[in-house]
Amino acid sequence: MSIEIKIREIAPARIQTAVLAFPVTDKGLEGSPAKRLDRQLKGKLAALVKKSSFAAKRGSSLLLATHGAMPAGHVLLVGLGKQDEAGPHAWRTAGAVTAREAGRIWADDAVFMLPPDQQTGAVVEAVAEGALLSAYRFNKYRSKDPPPGRLRTLTVGRTAAGRNAALTRAVRRARVSVSAICLARDLVNEPASTATASYLAEQAASHCRGEGLKVEVWGKRKIQQMKLAGLLAVNQGSREEPRFLHIRYKPKTKPRRKVALIGKGITFDSGGLSLKPPRSMETMKLDMAGGAAVIAVMSALPELAPDVEVLGLVPATDNLPDGGAQKPGDVIRYLNGKTVEVMNTDAEGRLILADALVLAAREKPDCMINLATLTGACIVALGNELAGLFCNHGELAEELEACGRDAGEGLWRLPLAAEYREDIKSPVADIKNVGGGSAGAITAALFLQEFVDDVPWAHLDIAGPAFAAKDRVTCPKGGTGFGVRTLLNFLSGTGE
Ligand code: BES
Ligand code: MN
Ligand code: ZN
Repeated sequence: MSIEIKIREIAPARIQTAVLAFPVTDKGLEGSPAKRLDRQLKGKLAALVKKSSFAAKRGSSLLLATHGAMPAGHVLLVGLGKQDEAGPHAWRTAGAVTAREAGRIWADDAVFMLPPDQQTGAVVEAVAEGALLSAYRFNKYRSKDPPPGRLRTLTVGRTAAGRNAALTRAVRRARVSVSAICLARDLVNEPASTATASYLAEQAASHCRGEGLKVEVWGKRKIQQMKLAGLLAVNQGSREEPRFLHIRYKPKTKPRRKVALIGKGITFDSGGLSLKPPRSMETMKLDMAGGAAVIAVMSALPELAPDVEVLGLVPATDNLPDGGAQKPGDVIRYLNGKTVEVMNTDAEGRLILADALVLAAREKPDCMINLATLTGACIVALGNELAGLFCNHGELAEELEACGRDAGEGLWRLPLAAEYREDIKSPVADIKNVGGGSAGAITAALFLQEFVDDVPWAHLDIAGPAFAAKDRVTCPKGGTGFGVRTLLNFLSGTGE
């Protein structure tokens, strides 16, 4: 069920609603429209807050019943955290907390009051995004629908009259990015026996429609013709044919820049002959999260219409160990002439990304960005909250970091340290697909770098944040859609 979002001018003391929410920073009620209400209530609100443990931390909230003191049934104070740190993600979280808390008391409708100095498109977009994201569930395989009673309408309240056009556009943008994020989540959450390479291709074709967008799906024959040797090698052990998705967006006017996005599309990673132990395989349907993010981002472009040309590439296959499977010691020869000795068939992501990076680099884009659930080592280094960012270009890295910050998707830069380059040397081929046992996230990135030529390039290792082990306000356990918001920010020029 989707929440309807409205924008209205609202007088808090008179509005009839189940939940009247006020964002509050560490500075307390000062500067919040709740202050005025408190005066009208003769300081009762402030007294209740003082008695409680509410400290306006980000993600926290305090729900107070009004018992007839005003037409609104409840007042909800929503913590934004520190005032000087209250960026888009604080607002996104506040929107999500409001929707969740209202849902908890079976409220149909809620009002979220904007402070007078925050009635901007950016804030409205973030609040709407948070509220909409909080409603995401993957329920298609549950036999009983979970109980209804979630919020139906969220009204974003402004204290003064004004033009709503920019704010209405902001709500529309929020809807577009949320559908993209939810598409990425759905694709990741879908079990691997359904979400095969051809399923990803069908989903891409059905979601990537609209002005300027074109999807080409390459089957096995075309993949052979194009000599995508890495994808073919990984696919050898599978019964499912591989697919290579080639999605292009062209804006109506002359593009400001040309960007290539590349996503790892391993629909299930058993490790291949270098088989993973059972526990490590449990969540390996997540291994196409990078590809899912790329498909999702592409699907949003016709509506967001950035003045950027975007090429989205997703090599897709599962990684399984049947009799035809590639074997440790096999050698792959890539399109750019490089040869790779496959020492470990579980380091398969880099093998299929290499093909795509070579193809993308040939188009001479202004930059290319790949997303991949690439290494367990990156999870060891950065945990589940942050993605590793490897980049051969300082400005591109900074731009992505800024986009990630606004998106609430933390990117932490790790080095493309030349010191470890010799760890991927092979005795029989140019390089091998594993490093020396330590610095695994770095050696994987150094491997990819062999295929990017001199194009400005960023690699996001999203192995940690692609899949949530615990529920959060904006996302339940499972696929998170990590990277979609960062890339949408990047394409709309937020980080420049
Ligand atoms: N898909 C995995 C990485 C991964 C692990 C993602 C855990 C999400 C959670 C990748 O293909 C892989 O198996 N990497 C190996 C590389 C090693 C063999 C060099 C790893 O990290 O162990
Ligand atoms: Mn693997
Ligand atoms: Zn993998």
